Amino acid sequence: MRIPTGVWFVPLAVALVAAQNVKYTQDPDWKPPSQTAEKKNPLAEKPGLAAGGKKLFTRHCVECHGQSGEGLRKAADLQLPVVQDQSDGALYWKITNGNPDRGMPSFSGIPELQRWQIVMHLRKLKRAEAEK
Ligand code: HEC
Repeated sequence: MRIPTGVWFVPLAVALVAAQNVKYTQDPDWKPPSQTAEKKNPLAEKPGLAAGGKKLFTRHCVECHGQSGEGLRKAADLQLPVVQDQSDGALYWKITNGNPDRGMPSFSGIPELQRWQIVMHLRKLKRAEAEK
């Protein structure tokens, strides 16, 4: 007996949604000071460095945010506009300080330029989503 193709789509779609933290709601109290949010990425002229950011992301972030930044369990879906619409400086600040009460650790121990590299990689996650 042949199973109609449509039957496979439903469980597949359910699985994809379940693997992504689409229900993520941002903590309204977790906001960088305005000067910090305006900080420019000092590596902006060196897009090639994003590859190093990907390595750092794999090492430090994937366990919670997933390889494509989709967000596992309670971790933010980093592809979402609520995240991507923030400035580089704001994302940098959030990575640096974390939000420990809600499960995001502080990464102030990663050298400054490497944190900026991670920000560059976060921008690629947005592009990956647009290509879907
Ligand atoms: C132990 C799990 C964990 C790890 C590891 C982790 N995160 Fe998070 N992250 C979270 C959680 C949970 C949140 C949501 C916090 C909240 O609800 O306010 C979050 C939020 C964020 C946000 C902010 C999203 C927003 O709404 O503005 C960014 C950006 C982020 N993480 C980036 C990273 C990066 C980059 C790394 C690696 C350097 C990383 N995270 C590692 C759990 C984690």
